[in-house]
Amino acid sequence: MNADNNPASARGPVRIAFVVARSENGVIGRDGKLPWHISADLQHFKRLTLGKPVVMGRKTYDSIGKPLPRRTNIVVTRDTAWQQPGVQVVHDIPTALALAYEDAHRTGVDEISIIGGGELFQVLMPEAHVIYLTEVHGSFQGDAVFDLDLALGWREASRERHAAESPGGPDYSFVTLERTA
Ligand SMILES: NC(=O)c1ccc[n+]([C@@H]2O[C@H](COP(=O)([O-])OP(=O)(O)OC[C@H]3O[C@@H](n4cnc5c(N)ncnc54)[C@H](OP(=O)(O)O)[C@@H]3O)[C@@H](O)[C@H]2O)c1
Repeated sequence: MNADNNPASARGPVRIAFVVARSENGVIGRDGKLPWHISADLQHFKRLTLGKPVVMGRKTYDSIGKPLPRRTNIVVTRDTAWQQPGVQVVHDIPTALALAYEDAHRTGVDEISIIGGGELFQVLMPEAHVIYLTEVHGSFQGDAVFDLDLALGWREASRERHAAESPGGPDYSFVTLERTA
């Protein structure tokens, strides 16, 4: 993907932003759900994505169970029969990005939010400009992962650590990573 695939690029940059919560051992999901419950992170996710086009894999859509309100929901699936009210369904990644860029341009927002899951993050990693990462401090078991090698052209622009919300829960940090190369 390059600037020619970005219909908004002539009118102003639109960044591709990952929004992801990840444990220290790389886990993001287990049995179709998040392995933790952190209310503050759900609020953080909402703040980061409201008003923006959100692109997700079909399994992530299933785990949410409904379209996210006040956001254009774009779901990627290979199943040509799959549809849901309030969802724009696409069958490949370039179409997902083209739709998302169109939407961002039409509504005047400066970011497209890629919200998972593991498969989508993996395939879209080369396109990401910024990662809003919630580091969940601890090791979790799971079946969905996000591989992130910070040595490879990323800089940490901000970091904010928070204590666990409830006894026994994990501490977490809101981290912003920007691509340097
Ligand atoms: N912690 C976090 O930040 C976070 C965020 C999101 C999700 N999650 C968790 O992650 C898990 C889900 O992630 P996942 O990796 O299993 O699945 P996913 O990435 O959400 O969805 C995978 C599905 O997307 C479709 N897809 C993927 N690549 C495609 C392509 N190139 N072209 C067309 N369709 C494509 C396929 O749908 P079809 O099978 O329909 O063809 C595929 O099965 C859940 O546990 C969820 O709770 C965590």
